[in-house]
Amino acid sequence: MISFLQHNPTKLWFGEGQIRQLKSELGGTGKNVLIVYGGGSIKKNGVYDAVLNELHKADAHVFELSGVEPNPRLTTVKAGIELCRKEEIDLLLAVGGGSVIDCVKAISIGVYYEGDVWDVISRKGAPDRALPFGTVLTLAATGSEMNNISVITDWEKNEKRGWGSPLVFPQFSILDPTFTFSVPRDQTVYGIVDIMSHALEQYFHRTENTPMIDRFIESLLITVMEAGTELVQDLHNFKLRETVMYAGTTAFNETLSNGTDGGDWGSHQIEHAVSAVYDIPHGGGLAILFPNWMSYCSEIDPSRMKKLAVNVFKISPEGKSELETAKEGIAALRSFWNSIGAPSRLADYGIDDSKLDQLVEKSFMKDEVGTYKVLNKQDVREILLRSM
Ligand code: NZQ
Ligand code: ZN
Repeated sequence: MISFLQHNPTKLWFGEGQIRQLKSELGGTGKNVLIVYGGGSIKKNGVYDAVLNELHKADAHVFELSGVEPNPRLTTVKAGIELCRKEEIDLLLAVGGGSVIDCVKAISIGVYYEGDVWDVISRKGAPDRALPFGTVLTLAATGSEMNNISVITDWEKNEKRGWGSPLVFPQFSILDPTFTFSVPRDQTVYGIVDIMSHALEQYFHRTENTPMIDRFIESLLITVMEAGTELVQDLHNFKLRETVMYAGTTAFNETLSNGTDGGDWGSHQIEHAVSAVYDIPHGGGLAILFPNWMSYCSEIDPSRMKKLAVNVFKISPEGKSELETAKEGIAALRSFWNSIGAPSRLADYGIDDSKLDQLVEKSFMKDEVGTYKVLNKQDVREILLRSM
């Protein structure tokens, strides 16, 4: 293992009815609170009313920023920064999925940042202060509710960038599985794919002697597949929703990378390039790209793909080469994702090779893509071509 510090300051309130904790989390009465949400799902499913009810108990002055896009945009972040400055907001409250939370993280840092917030998002500027924020999660997927990562798109430049700062861990997050009952089937599937992809990215590390972490990841993958299979047929099942919700948070809050090099994350970088240009759902893109990344990299080093095949997909390695076993595991992953309704080709989103060069370029927003296999532009091109 590699020496590590585990320090995640986010206070997590998990379970049905935990929204009642909101009042005490505000840290006093009469605060100016900006609630930030997306396209309106929270108004249909009762979450908005539940949140406002608690805010009123604390005599909060409530301001609103709605319309955060899936794949949140810089323009919305800037509108939020202006609003916070104008109304002297004390606390931001994200009510939604990863997009809303990521937008709030960028607003929280931008309020005190004197330059252009895009400098921070593109890792050029170093912020030193952030407005406090909490989250009420409505979709199990990204893990943003308990990590310090945010992903923002500048749609004018077709750039989607992930960034992070110790300043943007949520102060608190409230996770009520019943708030996810209304997530439609397609978004539920994308969430399952994203959660599994986070676990997989961290599985493809190169650190020795990590049996605990490896088995944590394997167990999370098996659990999400078991629950996910049933959940897509039974969207209002509390037990399945709570299992997947807890898995989503655990999959990307550092629990699965303690003591390792952190994993690969190349598939995520390539997916961010595709959604920067085509604005497709993150989980949908991963369902297509990740198996192709695995297949391509297994041809260079199949060791971890083989371990995954045997331990998670129960593929027998008897009489097979490492690569053959690895490929059977990848096929099993692909077939699981297809079985729950995830897409398998970029063509499913109408994407062909006409912007291939641009997709390759956009994949290199950070200097390097991947660690398990450090990919060059030709490698990324090949993975994209196999995904078309
Ligand atoms: O906009 P609303 O009306 O809220 O509808 C949303 C949206 O249309 C809907 N939804 C959310 N909760 C719902 C619901 N519909 C009905 N009932 C509910 N309870 O679902 C749609 C998608 O929401 P979104 O927040 O975009 O999804 P997700 O949580 O998957 O977030 C995706 C974004 O997060 C980034 C992705 O790149 C993408 O931009 N990521 C963030 C990460 C992080 N911060 O750690 C890591 C990830 O790898 C990822 O890159
Ligand atoms: Zn992801």
